[in-house]
Amino acid sequence: MSIFIGGAWPYANGSLHIGHLSSLLPGDVLARYFRLKGEEVLYVSGSDCNGTPIAIKAKQEGVSTKVIADKYHSEFKGCFEKLGFTYDCYTRTDSPFHHQIVQQVFLQLLENAKLYKREEEQCYCKTCEQFLPDRFVEGICPHCKAKARGDQCDYCSNILNPIELIDKVCKTCGDEPIIKATEHLYFKLSSLQKELESYVAHAKSQGNWRENAIHLSERYLSEGLVDRAVSRDLPNGVSVPVDGYEDKKVYVWIEAVTGYYSASKQWAIEHGKDENLFWNKETISYYVHGKDNIPFHSIIWPAILTSVGNDSLPTHIVSNEYVTIEQKKLSTSRNWAIWVPDMLARYHPDSIRYFLIANAPETRDADFSWREFVYSHNSELLGAYGNFVNRTLKFIEKSFDGVTPKGEVDLEIKRRVIALYDDVGQLIARTKFKNSLEQIFSFIRAANKYFDQQKPWIQIIENPSVCADTLATCVYVIANLAQLLNPFLPFSSQEIQRMLGLERLDWKEINIDTITLHEVKVLFERIDLAAIDEELEKLDKGIPE
Ligand code: MF3
Ligand code: ZN
Repeated sequence: MSIFIGGAWPYANGSLHIGHLSSLLPGDVLARYFRLKGEEVLYVSGSDCNGTPIAIKAKQEGVSTKVIADKYHSEFKGCFEKLGFTYDCYTRTDSPFHHQIVQQVFLQLLENAKLYKREEEQCYCKTCEQFLPDRFVEGICPHCKAKARGDQCDYCSNILNPIELIDKVCKTCGDEPIIKATEHLYFKLSSLQKELESYVAHAKSQGNWRENAIHLSERYLSEGLVDRAVSRDLPNGVSVPVDGYEDKKVYVWIEAVTGYYSASKQWAIEHGKDENLFWNKETISYYVHGKDNIPFHSIIWPAILTSVGNDSLPTHIVSNEYVTIEQKKLSTSRNWAIWVPDMLARYHPDSIRYFLIANAPETRDADFSWREFVYSHNSELLGAYGNFVNRTLKFIEKSFDGVTPKGEVDLEIKRRVIALYDDVGQLIARTKFKNSLEQIFSFIRAANKYFDQQKPWIQIIENPSVCADTLATCVYVIANLAQLLNPFLPFSSQEIQRMLGLERLDWKEINIDTITLHEVKVLFERIDLAAIDEELEKLDKGIPE
C-alpha cells in the first residue's frame, strides 16, 4: 500500500504558533504510524514563500521577500526538526524546481482548455499605484456583515471577490480603492461541477473526510462552483508562462497546492525513486491542514488533478478546527499567540505534542491553557507514563542488578496490548488521534494499577518468582508502549528504546528476553507550577515576534 501525506504549507512571513502546529501534527503521527506498519510512505510539505503575506512583511521591514522567506524557512525547518517531524521532503515554493513544475501544470491546464482569458474589474489603489491583492482589500462581508479580508470571510467561511466587500479600504494606506479593469486567466471550475459533486459524495460515503470538510465542500457545490481568476498582479511568485502575462503571477489557489506534486517529484529525483508510486489511483492520500485551507484541498486541488488527467485525488481530508488560547481567539496581530520557538526553548517536545494531540480541535475548537498544559504534563506524561517506566526500571536496577528477570507475562495484559495495536492503528488511520492517544493512556493507568496491586516490593521478599512475573510483565508493557507511542511521543519512545536496547520498532506485539538495562533515566521532569503564572504574564504582555 502506498500512503501519501501532504502537510499544509505555512506562509514564511512569521513564526509558527500553536495553531499551525495543532493542525500540522496529525501528519507526522500518520507518517510514523504507517512507516512502523511497514507501508510505503511519502510525507511532504514546505514553506509557502510566495504571495501577498510575504510581500507585506518584506515591505514592513524594508527588505526583499527573499530575506523574509529565508529567515522563516530556516526557522520552520529548525522547529519541525526539534519537534520530531519526519518529512521526507520539506521544500519551499520559491525554489526554481517548484516554479518549473507549476508552470508545467499551468500549461497543461491551458492545453486542456481549462483556462480562459477574461477582462475583470479589480480593486486598484491610486495612492499605492497598484492592483490590490485580495488580502489587501478589507471591508464588510456581503454575506454575514462581519469584518472581512478580500479573499475570504473568516466568520462565515465564504470565499469572496474583494469587489463585493462593503466599505472597502486598502490595507496598506487606508484609502478607498477604485474599480479598474484588468485581464486575467480564469480556471473553469464551473465545468467540473458534476465531477466534483460525485467526488465529494463518494468521500462522504467513505467517511474519510472530517465533518467540516464535507460540510463546507457541499456548501460550495450547492451554491454552484464559480470560475476563479488564477493569475494575479503580484510582485513575487511563479510567473504566468503565457505571452503578455509575464508580469502576472500564478495565484496561490493553483500554485501552493501544486507543491504537493513538485515536492514529490523533487523527493523522487533526490532519492532515485519514482513519484508515481504515490500518485496513482490506488494511493491513499492524507491532506493535513487547518479549516481555513479546506477548499484548497477538497475542491481546487481535486479540480486541478482531474483537469490534468491525474486520478490520484485526495482520499482523506484532515482539517482541524481552531485552537483558542485561554478561551480567546488566537490573534497574531494582537500577539495573543503562543509561538513555537518560545515553547521549544522551555518545554520537552513530547509535552507539546502530547498536549496538542490530546486536546486537538478535531471536531470543534479546542482551548490551550497554560494551566492545563502544565497539569497534563505533570499528571499524564510524568505522573502516569514516566512514572510507570521509571518505577519499573529503577526497581529492576536495584533488586535485579539491572537485568530484566525471566517470567511469565500476565495474560490479561498481553491480550490488551495485542488489541491495542489493532484498535489504536485503526483509529489513527481513521484520523481519530485524540481517541487513539486516550486508549493508550487509559492502558497506562491500568498498568500502574497492576503495579500497585502486585506490590513487587513485597513479592520480592515473599515470592521472588511471582515478582519476576510482575516485572517481566511491566517490561513487556514498557517495550510495547515505546512502539505504540512512537507516532505521538517519539522522543520518550526513543529513550525507552535506548534503555531497553531495542534495535527497531514495529507495529506489532514485541516480547522481551532478559536484557541488561542501559543507564536508567527519567523520561520527563516535573514542570514547576510557577511556570503557569510566568507564561500567563508573558502572554498578557505579548512577546515580541
Ligand atoms: N500558505 C497557504 C496558507 O497558509 C496555503 C497552505 S496549504 C496549501 O493558507 F496546500 F494550500 F498550500
Ligand atoms: Zn493604498
